[in-house]
Amino acid sequence: MVVSSAPGKVYLFGEHAVVYGEPAVPCAIERRARVSAEARDDDRIRVHAEDLSLNGFTVEYSDSSDGAPDVDAAESLVQAGIGYIDAAVEQARDAAGEPDAGFDITVESEIPLGAGLGSSAAVTTAGIDAGTRELGVELSAEEIAERAYRAELEVQNGEASRADTFCSATGGAVRVEGDDCRGIDAPDLPFVIGFDGGAGDTGELVAGVRALREEYDFAADTVEGIGDIVRSGERALAAGDVEELGDLMNFNHGLLEALGVSSRSLDQMVWAARDAGAYGAKLTGAGGGGCIVALDPTESTETALRYTPGCEDAFRAELDTDGVRVEE
Ligand code: MEV
Repeated sequence: MVVSSAPGKVYLFGEHAVVYGEPAVPCAIERRARVSAEARDDDRIRVHAEDLSLNGFTVEYSDSSDGAPDVDAAESLVQAGIGYIDAAVEQARDAAGEPDAGFDITVESEIPLGAGLGSSAAVTTAGIDAGTRELGVELSAEEIAERAYRAELEVQNGEASRADTFCSATGGAVRVEGDDCRGIDAPDLPFVIGFDGGAGDTGELVAGVRALREEYDFAADTVEGIGDIVRSGERALAAGDVEELGDLMNFNHGLLEALGVSSRSLDQMVWAARDAGAYGAKLTGAGGGGCIVALDPTESTETALRYTPGCEDAFRAELDTDGVRVEE
């Protein structure tokens, strides 16, 4: 049996606009998804998810004997967010040249599902790493990122950038623009995260922005404006100017709100963080509900968020310089 883990992430800048080729800067955080893979004697897949918002959920199916999982199993998989595991298994089988390999898989995640912290990318990258290693194949972080990206594309109906999966595979702060993905230097970033207990549907939110951008010039301009903010953000990162980073995060949140992907609870948490003295705050990820990220080296934002209506949890998160890795 192999156990691999991969980190979640926050977007310092650039979500949604990255889907249209603008740059983005996601940063891996020390909250991980762990996936264990044990090869079976048959071609069946048994997935058990401990903490994926569905305690103790288990599904078993076979998709290689008749070409596809039966409809009920497939629906359960997608509903449970385990569609990503199914796609990861396919990538592992493909990489190892063993299309009929069966696995017992267990997922344990510290990352809330669909909340903007990259849970699906972390589960997918860790799943590909564990599955391939269990079949005797070792892929580089870049190869895992590429396969995880293909898996996300499949589950999200062709709507995904490389940002989440690359960040989860390599760790650290990264810059993504189209197919160009690389690690960048970052100063100490005092991340504080607020979580409203909810989740957004990434596919639906991305499709909503696409529709708005096709209908209104302002939305296309807004997407480009986010790209400008990211470029300024890169300069502020290189200069280690955390105050300017905060200002730019505030601008970025305003533009995401204009694109219709914020929510009342996300806005409430963003304003609570700003009122508490954070350098800046914005939603992170696809939006619609889930998490905000703020920059504040003091305790003030975390404390204020705990008393903010709509905030279910607030915590500090460190940048994780480790990407996908085998757990001893
Ligand atoms: C979701 O975490 C980030 C989005 O930009 C979608 C993507 O990049 O695939 C909204």
